[in-house]
Amino acid sequence: MTAPVVELVGLSRSFPGTPPVHALRDADLLVQQGDYLAIVGPSGSGKSTLLHLLGLLDRPTSGVYALDGVDTASLDDRERAGMRAHRIGFVFQSFHLLASRTTAENVMLSEVYRKGPRKQRRARAVEALERVGLGHRIDAMPTTLSGGERQRVAVARALVGRPSLLLADEPTGNLDTATSEQILELFRELHDDGLTLAVITHDLEVADVAERRVQIRDGVLSELERSWR
Ligand SMILES: Nc1ncnc2c1ncn2[C@@H]1O[C@H](COP(=O)(O)OP(=O)(O)OP(=O)(O)O)[C@@H](O)[C@H]1O
Ligand SMILES: [Mg+2]
Repeated sequence: MTAPVVELVGLSRSFPGTPPVHALRDADLLVQQGDYLAIVGPSGSGKSTLLHLLGLLDRPTSGVYALDGVDTASLDDRERAGMRAHRIGFVFQSFHLLASRTTAENVMLSEVYRKGPRKQRRARAVEALERVGLGHRIDAMPTTLSGGERQRVAVARALVGRPSLLLADEPTGNLDTATSEQILELFRELHDDGLTLAVITHDLEVADVAERRVQIRDGVLSELERSWR
């Protein structure tokens, strides 16, 4: 038995203030390898807070977060950065591509924070771009790409390190319906290939294609039944 990709036990995150904000309260969650999760909930409910914790961009106030069986509380900042670089892929609503770099360079740059052989960086970037259907736009500048193509570059950049977990925060938020569907189709293929995905979304279409749906309301996390609509 391999360890779950994510194990949360009583995870909480509060932000100081008067009154303090309890953005995530006592969350329990188990994500197994190959799971495809949608995280839904109203604005301000704690979705991004959860994603930042999962992505090791933030630390919980209390509770346990184990990633690939490693208790992340035991890690120092350097080890957390290493784990983030090697095990987590991020995709955001606004694609965060460097405008002055080609698509291949944008994908390659994600490996700057990663140890390992430099020589094959370009080959790995090309392979990731081919994986997302952009093998023909390797040397294109991001400004010449459509929104959907830019997001696919961002997905390629997230995938190039072969992460254990792909985290996406409103990945279709800036895309029209047809383009969103292409991204969802790509996520479905990645899921079929065994990737573990957690996708934050307001969009019921996006939530619909996931395998599991987790809801957050006022910082309280609960899993929805299959017949959730
Ligand atoms: N750094 C911070 N300092 C103080 N409060 C914060 C901080 N980050 C988030 N919050 C608060 O925590 C709560 C949850 O915020 P979060 O960003 O997780 O919501 P969300 O579900 O992602 O919302 P949206 O759908 O609008 O993106 C909100 O009340 C927010 O104001
Ligand atoms: Mg958010």
